[in-house]
Formats: sequence, C-alpha cells, structure tokens
Amino acid sequence: MEQREQWGTRAGFILAAVGSAVGLGNIWRFPYVVYENGGGAFLIPYFFALLTAGIPILLLEFGIGRTGRGSSPLSLSRLSRKFEWLGWWQVLICFVITTYYVSIIAWAVSYFFYSFNLNWGEDTKAFLFGTYLGVPGDAVTDSGWNLGGLRWHILLPLIAVWAGTYYVLIRGIKKGIEKVSKIFIPILFVMMILIVIRAVTLPGAGVGLDHLLTPDFGKIMPGFLGGTNPEWYSVWIAAYGQIFFSLSIAFAIMITYSSYIDKKQDVNNSGFIMAFSNCGFEFLAAIGVFAAIGFMAVSSGSEVKDVAASGVGLAFVVFPKIINAFPTLNGTFGALFFLALVIAGYTSLISIVEVLIASLMDKFRLSRKAAVNGVVGVCAFVSIVYTTGAGIVLLDIVDHFINNFGIVIAGLFEVILVGWFANITRIRDDNNLVSDFRVGTWWNIMIIGVTPLVLLFMTFKNFQLEFT
Ligand code: PHE
Repeated sequence: MEQREQWGTRAGFILAAVGSAVGLGNIWRFPYVVYENGGGAFLIPYFFALLTAGIPILLLEFGIGRTGRGSSPLSLSRLSRKFEWLGWWQVLICFVITTYYVSIIAWAVSYFFYSFNLNWGEDTKAFLFGTYLGVPGDAVTDSGWNLGGLRWHILLPLIAVWAGTYYVLIRGIKKGIEKVSKIFIPILFVMMILIVIRAVTLPGAGVGLDHLLTPDFGKIMPGFLGGTNPEWYSVWIAAYGQIFFSLSIAFAIMITYSSYIDKKQDVNNSGFIMAFSNCGFEFLAAIGVFAAIGFMAVSSGSEVKDVAASGVGLAFVVFPKIINAFPTLNGTFGALFFLALVIAGYTSLISIVEVLIASLMDKFRLSRKAAVNGVVGVCAFVSIVYTTGAGIVLLDIVDHFINNFGIVIAGLFEVILVGWFANITRIRDDNNLVSDFRVGTWWNIMIIGVTPLVLLFMTFKNFQLEFT
C-alpha cells in the first residue's frame, strides 16, 4: 500500500480548504440568498449559523479526519464501525454533485471565450437556453438527445475541465492539489477585488447595494417580536443551508482534506481562518454582484428586483446582459468574471472528486493512479448527460434534492451519530492539544444540542414543503 500523503505546509492545507469552500455557491448563490432573505438583516442569522453550526462542524470534521487519517467512510468507521454507511452516503452525494457541477464550470469556460466578442448577443436568455443549451421548445435548433445532437460546444470545454482535474489529481495531494491551490486562490481573491472595484464605481451601483444591504429586521423575527414575515423561520433555514454548502461541510470534503494534515499541526485556528476567508469572499462577491445589478437597473430604467436573479440565471443571463451594457472594456470585465467563476469552481471540483478517489483508495486498497483513472472516467462519462438538451432541467431537479435533503440529512446524521454516540470531548481535546488556541465546552453544546435541533427542524420543514 502507498503511504498516506500529507500536505506540505499548513498554509497549503488552508488554501486548499479555502479553494474547496470558495466555489460557485459563493458567487451565484450567496448574493441572491441575502437579497431574498431580509438584505442586511440576513447577516444576523447568517453569522448565527456560522458560529453555531458552521465552525463547530468544521472543527469536528477536521478532528475526525486528522485522527482518523482516512477518507470519510474510513475515518467515520474508525470512530465506530456503525458509522461507515454515513461516509458512503456522503460519497454518493459527492458523486452526484460532481457530475453536474462540472458541467456548469464547462459553461463558464465557454462563456469566458464568448466574452471577448460578446457572442451572446442582445437576447442573452434565448442565447443560453436556445442556442447554447438547446433546451427543447426554447427557440431550439435540435433537441440534443440523439448522438448527432451531442452539443460539442459544451462537450469540448467539459473535456478540458476533466483533463485539468485529472492532471491535478493524478499528482496527488502535495504536488497536485496543494500546488494548484497556492497559485489559484490568491489569484482568485485579487480577481474578485478587481471585479468589485469596477462594479462599485459604475453609475447606479449604490442603488444595488442599498437593496442588498438595507436591513429588513421584520423578515427575520417572529410576530411577537415585531416581525412582519409569517415565514420568518425560512430565513433562518436559508442561512443554515448557505453555511453548509458554502463551507463544504457535511459532505465528506473537509474530513478527507484534514486526513492529510500533519498530526502535529494546528486545526482550530486553521478552521477559523478558513471559515472567515470563505465568508469574506462571499460577502465581497455579493457586493460586486449587486453593484453591477444596480448599474443595470438604473441604466435600463428598471427595478432592481426585476434584474436580480439566482443561480444559472444570474451568471449566464443577467451577467452577460450587464456586460453588454458596460460603458467600456466589456470584454475584459466579462472575461474576468467568467474566469473567476471557472477558477472558483475548478478548485471546488478537485476537492469533491478527491473525496471519491480517497474513499475508493482506502476501501479497495487501490493505487492513486487506478482510483483516479476509474473515478474520472466514470464521472466524466456520466457528466455527458448534462450536455444534452435535457441537461439543465435535470440539473435543476437534482440540485434541488441534493441541497434540501442530501446535504442537510447527512449533516443531521453526522452531528447525531458522532455527537451523541462518540466521545466528542476527546475529539475536542485532541484538537486543542495541537492548536494555537483552545476551544471550550460551548463547542460540545453546539454539536450535541443546538445544531441537531436546528437541522431536525429544517428537515421536517423541507419534507413538509415538498410533500404536502
Ligand atoms: N463550497 C462549495 C461552493 O460554494 C461547495 C462545493 C464544493 C460544491 C465542492 C461542489 C464541490 O460551491
């Protein structure tokens, strides 16, 4: 068996973890979630979720991986044989996410090239759904289901993204993932700062920022505290959902990454640094996005709420439109934005594919080479389905269920199994022993009490919303 690899430096580990956390979710999910859920007031539930669930679970996963020294199924089974299935459940989630996440990165690659000549034209929606994705019924040329309809302009970037992923993962932890993260993550932060500077100096930027940040406290509080929103708790659920997705917790990634930490290295401080870098980036992205949306609203004489959109719509319909309207240097700004999306997505993709590789290596005692070949081969093949005309419809459905059920339920079981049936004080002590500062009993209270309660409530509400 190959000896287990390790990160070369602590900074390397932190940058890789930040690389995983900073992804598409930070750029296109967060801004809209804030806007929809009370603007500036949303930051209260958001920070609450960060401190009560985000950071505690992050430190828990760092502890599980660091001492377990294995992929998620192996590390969990080392806590108790009965926990192994949870690791595999998380691996399954990672497999599903991988196959569609990669296709969105492929779209961003295409759009990076389209930026230079603004190939998407005036009607960016028709371009995305009709010309580019070829969704049946939407000004389409072909349905994309038959082989002749394989959409090469999506398939080629998809192959390129897979090639890039293969290139890094075959080189392993230190020479592959760590090296790439050390180069790309600083670049990504600089790019985001440039985007924000450009966006906030556009005319109308203030209008967008007002919408983003003006706090609507009524939205986040129950009626008896003066709230005006009968569904105030949905805002809190959204905050927890965002924190889970954004920090890449509860889906095995952080357990896997921390299994490569040098045993003597700090975890507590690294965890805080990583969480705050991720949230800082996310906040920056929200400012950039909403400043740009404000500019668009003012210059086209419409309302911010009519311009703002989430997810695919934001990145591939609204942004191209904003880029069209730019006073100067449209192409440059467009290329910068889509390249940032590609880099953010790519470093997250690597982390999620590594989860699959590490689990198979541990379980079947495979070499890295064999595992990488198998995993990348199978995932690449399955991901082709998202390049057909039906891809985006499928993607929406799969994404919805993964977010509302897959991840939340994995998190729920993780805190209940580990929190209630394993010795978590020992995990805390182990972490404290090597760390720059100590974490107190508040952490146990979060893991054993607060987080399971909130997640149970979330799961209950999600089922109710879905099936009643
Ligand atoms: N935190 C990541 C994001 O915001 C979540 C993620 C990681 C998703 C890895 C897919 C793969 O996009």
